[in-house]
Amino acid sequence: MVKRIPVVLAMALAALLAWQPAAAQSARARATAKVDLDARFKEVQTNPKLADDLYKVGRKVAAVCANCHGDGGNSTKPSIPNLAGQNPAYLLEQLRQFADGRRRNEFMEGMIRAMDADEKIGMVLFYAAQEVIHKPATNAGIAAKGQDIFNKNCFRCHGNVGRGNEQIARIAGQQHDYLRLTLKRYRDGADVRANSIMTPNTKHMTDADIEAVVAYVSSMP
Ligand code: HEC
Ligand code: HEC
Repeated sequence: MVKRIPVVLAMALAALLAWQPAAAQSARARATAKVDLDARFKEVQTNPKLADDLYKVGRKVAAVCANCHGDGGNSTKPSIPNLAGQNPAYLLEQLRQFADGRRRNEFMEGMIRAMDADEKIGMVLFYAAQEVIHKPATNAGIAAKGQDIFNKNCFRCHGNVGRGNEQIARIAGQQHDYLRLTLKRYRDGADVRANSIMTPNTKHMTDADIEAVVAYVSSMP
C-alpha cells in the first residue's frame, strides 16, 4: 500500500492539473488565502444557488479523489475510508486536522494544500449527499458481539444507527481495514491521530473487541 502510493500520487496530481489549467499559477495563492471554512460553510447553507454551484465544483474535485476513495466516495479498497454519507462538519474538521498537523498522512496533506476553500466546501457537499453502499456482515456471530460493544458505548456519540451527527463522524458502513487501523491507532495513542476523544473510548478494547466492533460497524447500513 505505502509502496504503491507514488504511482497513484502521480496519477492524481496529473488529474488535478488537467482538471483546472489555471490551477498552476494560482494554486499557491488560493491555498494560502485564509478563508474561514466554517463561515463559508454557513454562508453556503443559507444560499441554495451558491450551494448548487459549489456542489458541482465538488463533483469535479471528487473525480480526482475517486482513484482512492471510489466513485461517489464508496471506496473499493478496504484500507481507504468511504467519504460517501459522511457528515460535513466532520469532513471539514479532518481537512483542518490534516492541514495543521494534528492528523498525519503525507499524501492527504498534499491534496488538501492544493484545494481552495470553495473546493473543500464543494467536496464536502458532494460527498455528504452520496449514499453509502451497504455491505452485509460476513460473520454474523462476530458481528453480534460487536453489536453488544457498540450498544454499550459507541452509540452515545455515533448514534444508534452509527451515522453520527453534525459534529461526529458517520461510522456505519465504513471500510473494515480502515476501521481496524483507525481504532488501533486511537487505542495505542499513535501520533498520526493524536489527542482524540476516541483514545479514552478505545483504551480498554482488546484486539478481539476491535475485530468484533469492526465486523458490526462495517455492516451497518
Ligand atoms: C492516493 C490515495 C488517495 C487519494 C487520491 C485521496 N485520498 Fe483521501 N485518504 C487516503 C487515505 C489512505 C486516507 C486515510 C488516512 C489515514 O487515516 O491514515 C484518506 C483520508 C481522507 C479523509 C479522512 C476521512 C475520514 O473518514 O476521516 C478525507 C476527508 C479525505 N481523505 C479526502 C480526500 C479528498 C477530498 C481527496 C481528493 C481531493 C482525496 N482524499 C484523495 C487516500 C487518498
Ligand atoms: C464520547 C463520544 C464518542 C464515543 C463514546 C465514541 N466515539 Fe468514535 N468518535 C468520536 C469523535 C468526536 C470522533 C472524531 C475524532 C477525531 O477527529 O479524531 C470519533 C471518531 C471515530 C472514528 C473515526 C472515523 C473516521 O472516519 O476516521 C471511528 C472509527 C470511531 N470513532 C469509532 C467508534 C467506536 C467503534 C466507538 C465505540 C467503541 C466509538 N467511536 C465511541 C466520538 C466518540
